[in-house]
Amino acid sequence: MSIKASLISISAYVPDLLLSNQDLERMVETSDEWIVKRTGIKTRYIANKNESTSDLGYKAAKLAIKRSNLNVDDIDCIICATISPDHLCMPSTACKIAHKLGIYGITAFDISAACTGFIYLLEIAKSFIQSGLKKNILIIGAEKLSSIVNWNDRSTCILFGDGAGAAVISASKDENFIIDTHTASDGSKNDLLITPGCGSANPANLENLSQNLQFIHMKGNEVFRIAVNTLSKDVEDILKKNQISSKDIDLFIPHQANLRIINAVKQKLNLKDEQCIITVDRFGNTSSASIPMAMNFAYENNKLKNGDLMLLDAFGGGFTWGSALLKFGGK
Ligand code: ACO
Repeated sequence: MSIKASLISISAYVPDLLLSNQDLERMVETSDEWIVKRTGIKTRYIANKNESTSDLGYKAAKLAIKRSNLNVDDIDCIICATISPDHLCMPSTACKIAHKLGIYGITAFDISAACTGFIYLLEIAKSFIQSGLKKNILIIGAEKLSSIVNWNDRSTCILFGDGAGAAVISASKDENFIIDTHTASDGSKNDLLITPGCGSANPANLENLSQNLQFIHMKGNEVFRIAVNTLSKDVEDILKKNQISSKDIDLFIPHQANLRIINAVKQKLNLKDEQCIITVDRFGNTSSASIPMAMNFAYENNKLKNGDLMLLDAFGGGFTWGSALLKFGGK
C-alpha cells in the first residue's frame, strides 16, 4: 500500500487580550451593528507587544506535537505559513519556532499564501510525505496581523485578529488521510489586497512609511465578490472530482474572513448548520491561522472525531485560493 499523509493532531494558541467591537467603536468611526451585519465578527484577540508571530506559532506547535504522541525529535520538517513573519526577510519564522522547540538540523521554512496558507501547507506536506522525503511534518499557520493593520483605517482594522494553529502531518497506512488538495492563484489582481510597502517594490523609507504603505490595504467589496464566486466553484470542483456529495461531509471548515462569504458557499453546497464550523465571530480573520484555529475549536468542543471527513476552503491575497478534503487522523 502506498504511503499516505495523515493529519494526526491539531492545536491552536489564542492570545489573551480580547478586543471587542465596542472597543473598536472607541478607536474609529464604526459600530458593533455595522461590523456584525457586514462581517459576523464580534470579538478578536490581540497579541501583546512582546509577543511575536513565532511566539504564537511556538505555543500552538508545542501542543500539536504533544497531542500527536510523537517526540520533538521525530519531527523532520517545520513549515510555517504567515504574512506577518517575525522579520521581513530573514530568519524565517519557522526557523525561530524550531529553535524555541529545541529542534535543530531539520528542514524549516516559511511560505506566503495569505489566507490560503494552511491549504498550501497541507498540499506541500502531503507531497513531501507521499514522496518518502519526510515522515512527520509540523505545519503552522501563525499571524500577528495587529502588527500590519492600520488602526486608523476602519475598513480593515475591524476585520483582523492574532493567533496560531498547528498540526502534525505524518506518514501513515491508516485509512484517515489527506484525500485531496487543490491550490491556485491569480497574480493579476494582486493590488486589491496588498501590503504595498517595506519590500523591494517600496522599500522601508520615511516617505513610504508616512503613506502607511507598511499596512494591509484592501478593496473589500471587490475582494468579496471574487472570493464568493471563486470559492463556490472550487469546493464544488473538489467534491465532484472525488465523487463525494456535500451530504458526506462531516465538517465544513472554511477560512474565517466574513460570515457572509461562508454562508454563500454553505448555501451553494446545501450544507446544514451542524456541518459548519464558525469561529469568525470570536476570532475575526486570522489569515493563515484561521482554518487550523477553527479545526482546533471543533476538536476541543468534541465536534471533530477520528475518521471525520472535513472539507476546507480558503481565499486570500495574491490572489490565492484552494480547498482540501481529508479525514481526521487524530485521536
Ligand atoms: N464601520 C462603518 N462603516 C464602514 C466601515 C466600518 N468599519 N468600513 C467601511 N465602512 C463604510 C464604507 O466607507 C462605505 O461607505 P460609503 O457607502 O459611504 O462609501 C460602506 O461602509 C460600504 O463599504 P464596503 O467596503 O462596500 O462594505 P462591504 O459590504 O463590502 O464590507 C468588508 C466590507 C467587510 C471588508 C467586505 O467587503 C469583505 O469581507 N471583503 C472580503 C474580505 C476577504 O475575504 N478578504 C480575503 C481574505 S483576507 C487576507 O488574505 C489577508
